[in-house]
Amino acid sequence: MTFPDDRDPTLPGVADPYPLYHLLRREDPVHWSSFANAWMLTRHADATAYLQDRRFSRVAFLDAMRTKFGDNQPILKFQSEELAFLDGEKHMRLKNLVGKAFSPQRIAAIRPWIRAAVDARLDELAPSHRMDVIRDFAYPLPANVISQLLGVPEADRAKLRAWVDGIVLSRGLVRTSEMMEEGDRSAAAFEKYLRELLAKRRSNPSDDLMSAMIAAEEQGASLSEDQIVSMTETLFAAGHATTRSLIGLGLIALLRHPDELARLRSNPDLIADAVEEMLRYDPPTQAPSPQVAMEDVEIGGKLIRKGQMVSVLIGAANRDPARFPDPDRFDIGRRDHDHLSFSQGPHYCLGASLARAEAQIAILALVERFPRLRIVERAMRYQIAGRFRGFESLPVEF
Ligand code: HEM
Repeated sequence: MTFPDDRDPTLPGVADPYPLYHLLRREDPVHWSSFANAWMLTRHADATAYLQDRRFSRVAFLDAMRTKFGDNQPILKFQSEELAFLDGEKHMRLKNLVGKAFSPQRIAAIRPWIRAAVDARLDELAPSHRMDVIRDFAYPLPANVISQLLGVPEADRAKLRAWVDGIVLSRGLVRTSEMMEEGDRSAAAFEKYLRELLAKRRSNPSDDLMSAMIAAEEQGASLSEDQIVSMTETLFAAGHATTRSLIGLGLIALLRHPDELARLRSNPDLIADAVEEMLRYDPPTQAPSPQVAMEDVEIGGKLIRKGQMVSVLIGAANRDPARFPDPDRFDIGRRDHDHLSFSQGPHYCLGASLARAEAQIAILALVERFPRLRIVERAMRYQIAGRFRGFESLPVEF
């Protein structure tokens, strides 16, 4: 097999990983990566079956991280109450408690607010005729939206974003000690801030998600303070690098396919399908958190031994020709939206409706408002942060 086994399988060519993803899927579709210390699945059918399979555990993955890095790290303490690292009943109960706040109906109700925030930001940026789409626009947007939903005061949002950057870094498929230390520092500062904010909301509730979590009761059991803190951190971290990357990666796909861009400009109703195609074509999350096999399991003819880790290369599954005809073609009219960019099964993204709304509004506003929008190619830089791929910098002129 020609795939370089000592390299991070989420990084085979940051700007264009797809030729290597195709190679891997063709030649070794259930691939043991010694770099990630995990099996990586690349076929859509294998990945979908695996993501639904209850014989794999997130809790066991976190236990493995504890054995490796020690028990007392703030970042692991946070993660032990996080949805992404829970299994079974406890996971579903917690997910249902906050799920209502992120339902498509609830998100539809905040669309006008998101639209107003996007328009106001573009009003500020328009006179200079250039911007860095990431730094100036897509980076602050998801943090502002989730801050608004949770009730985080505007003055505190910039420092929260910096902490979340540190936390996101420590969520890689591969975690180094330096990443974990940065994650720990950020997690400790973030936790202190959240506990203080929580105390204020307890004595003075308002119409926001944090107050709703304090009040939440289901099956007689409310959320503990640790769970609320952890959930709040998750909501920040999960939507942060991902949503800004979707805006960047999606915009670049459009700008590099002028026919598709023209099609969207003449028919803005295509925006929902267009964003699904952007998610399929170039997903922000390269791999869901690994899980540990709780028994021997066979996948695609390979034996996964009890105790081994497994994950999915989402970009590879999304371009599987057995699932999507002509998978390398970017086609905003494609109606098949069965991509894995929000994962599938019990850990399906809680914020999918919110992310869709933000990306649809942001991308449509950019292309409608600036007819001469173009990328400054020589200055754009891709970035990998943890399991997330996107841009460090995406300058445009208009
Ligand atoms: C384009 C933006 C986004 C993408 C591509 C994305 C992708 C994903 C993926 C692939 C997973 C599965 C992760 C895993 O299994 O380890 C996930 C889970 C999750 N996402 Fe998102 N996400 C996005 C935005 C958001 C937003 C805006 C929020 C909330 C504000 C959010 C909240 C969550 C949560 C809480 C989970 C854990 C769900 C669970 O384990 O049950 N995400 N997301």
